[in-house]
Amino acid sequence: MDCGRRWLGKRRVKAVGYSIAVLPGDGIGPEVTVAALRVLDRVAKQGGLHLELETGLIGGAGIDEAGHPFPPATEALVHRAHAVLLGAVGGPRWAKSPTSPEQGLLALRSSLGLFANIRPFEVFPGLEAASPLKKPPRRGVIVRELLGGLYFGTPRGRSTRPEAGVEAVDTARYTTLEIERVARIGFEMAERQGVPLVSVDKANVLETSRLWRETVTKMSAEFPRVELIHRYVDAAAMEMVIAPERYQVVIAENLFGDILSDLAGGLVGSLGVMGSATVRQWEPGPGLYEPIHGSAPDIAGRGISNPLGAMWSVGMMLEWSFGLPEAAQAIYTAVRQTVAEGVWTPDLGGSATTEAVTESVLNHLG
Ligand code: NAD
Ligand code: IPM
Ligand code: MN
Repeated sequence: MDCGRRWLGKRRVKAVGYSIAVLPGDGIGPEVTVAALRVLDRVAKQGGLHLELETGLIGGAGIDEAGHPFPPATEALVHRAHAVLLGAVGGPRWAKSPTSPEQGLLALRSSLGLFANIRPFEVFPGLEAASPLKKPPRRGVIVRELLGGLYFGTPRGRSTRPEAGVEAVDTARYTTLEIERVARIGFEMAERQGVPLVSVDKANVLETSRLWRETVTKMSAEFPRVELIHRYVDAAAMEMVIAPERYQVVIAENLFGDILSDLAGGLVGSLGVMGSATVRQWEPGPGLYEPIHGSAPDIAGRGISNPLGAMWSVGMMLEWSFGLPEAAQAIYTAVRQTVAEGVWTPDLGGSATTEAVTESVLNHLG
């Protein structure tokens, strides 16, 4: 079991240290975060990597303990750190809270200014039967714009109109700059992989999507080797189910990327195995790492949540924030081996606990 050690020699030249802000959050967030940190700790020890972890409050935990879903102390903490690891936020307990746990997550993302949310999906060897598809895809990645669109546009809110009751307004807004910077990450990814780039929009209806399509089309002149394919989001949702192999690198605005990445979770058998990185650059730099799933209140506290998405996220942290792709691969390999052995939590059709899956991944790391 030397896969965790393969990268050792190259990095030992000087002791490398990083600080990580850990925000476990709500529901299954703390369970999967603890599991992922055990894996990260193992890999760090093997590689002589010094990590300083500091925990902060976010979401419902922030509301309960500090009166805010993104308390000022957490904001200061994440700006001091090299990378942020988040569990999940939200749950029915805070349904009546004046500020929601989810607002804390959006405030965190916006405060960090990281805009490219990279969400890889992969049908793990041995888990083909967990996919509802007859011919499951091998892998793909959705690059989701994370700081614009309906999530953040103003005006937003409610008013009462005597003749019509209550009116609620959300605003979709995008600038060329916001589109270009995330699209560039997608183009470069498609170029490196030698695959087409699928750009998802709703340009037959929405002005923001028309700007998205125009901007991406203009940019394609800079990437002559990348075949650019445009798809409307409704057709893309259908096509991802019947021909997922066409969706190897996808770029999409915030809301469409949110929806399609959960769809991808369905294609690979469970949301629980998908991790993500949110960055703003190719070089190692600041990053926010979170599994794409939520707080799963239906299974929280039972010790059966799938920790693989959170583990994949720490792998992505090693890759995208610390520039240690070999260390990241060690985690991805250990995750794949665990799955191949049939150590599956109930979401994948197995009966393993979070603890058993974690032990298995640690064993594979050696
Ligand atoms: P969810 O992702 O929490 O759960 C959807 C389904 O997938 C549930 O059946 C759940 O049990 C299952 N599931 C999700 N992750 C799993 C895992 N790791 N292991 C096993 N099963 C898993 O989505 P939801 O139920 O729509 O939302 C619940 C709460 O989470 C809401 O408050 C929502 O806003 C929030 N949420 C937070 C995040 C985040 O913090 N990044 C992401 C999505 C949803
Ligand atoms: C996600 C979640 C969040 C989002 C919510 C909880 C704000 O669904 O990370 O995918 O919509 O971005
Ligand atoms: Mn989502």
